[in-house]
Amino acid sequence: MTAPGLQTPGVHTPSWPELATAISSCTRCPELVATRQRVVVGQLRQQSRLLLVGEAPGAQEDEVGEPFVGRGGQLLDELLEGAGLHRSQVSVANVLKCRPPANRTPKPAEVANCRSWLTQQLALADPAVVVALGATATGWFFGRGSRLTELRGRPHDVDGRVLVATYHPSAALRFGPKGEPRRLLQADLELAAALLAQGRADA
Ligand code: URA
Repeated sequence: MTAPGLQTPGVHTPSWPELATAISSCTRCPELVATRQRVVVGQLRQQSRLLLVGEAPGAQEDEVGEPFVGRGGQLLDELLEGAGLHRSQVSVANVLKCRPPANRTPKPAEVANCRSWLTQQLALADPAVVVALGATATGWFFGRGSRLTELRGRPHDVDGRVLVATYHPSAALRFGPKGEPRRLLQADLELAAALLAQGRADA
């Protein structure tokens, strides 16, 4: 399948610092510009072959300027460890770089405004495996009508990259430690880790 987000013909790939500077001064979404404290660009780990894609910064990320530093981030770290991965080995980006007020769901126009930033981040990070966390990130890759519950649990080929769609850590928090979202998020992170290891073995 060819995902709209991974089509980058003719797109100049800037360096990460150049891109971060451009993203940080973005003014495409007036409501988000008016309410944000910081633009949360994301984290690129030079040697990382895994990119996690979340939805948008929350309150703590907006304060600190880094992705997944709140409760969801702590759970994510724990589940990554459970899959044999460490956050320091993983690149992280969000569909939106600015916090939607009161953590509301991103509007389609905001996702469209922000689309080229994540497209460029993907080109730059060039990960072997992408994990889409939650419905917004899954929709970014597969289209708005896509259903996470149908897509999760197996790898997809998205324009030459391996993509794993899974639950967002906030769903895992909402349903609690014994809830299905947490169990399935852990299983999908383990799948991503196995796919990374497999890629290494094949290389
Ligand atoms: N939720 C996200 O999707 N991304 C973050 O960076 C934080 C919370």
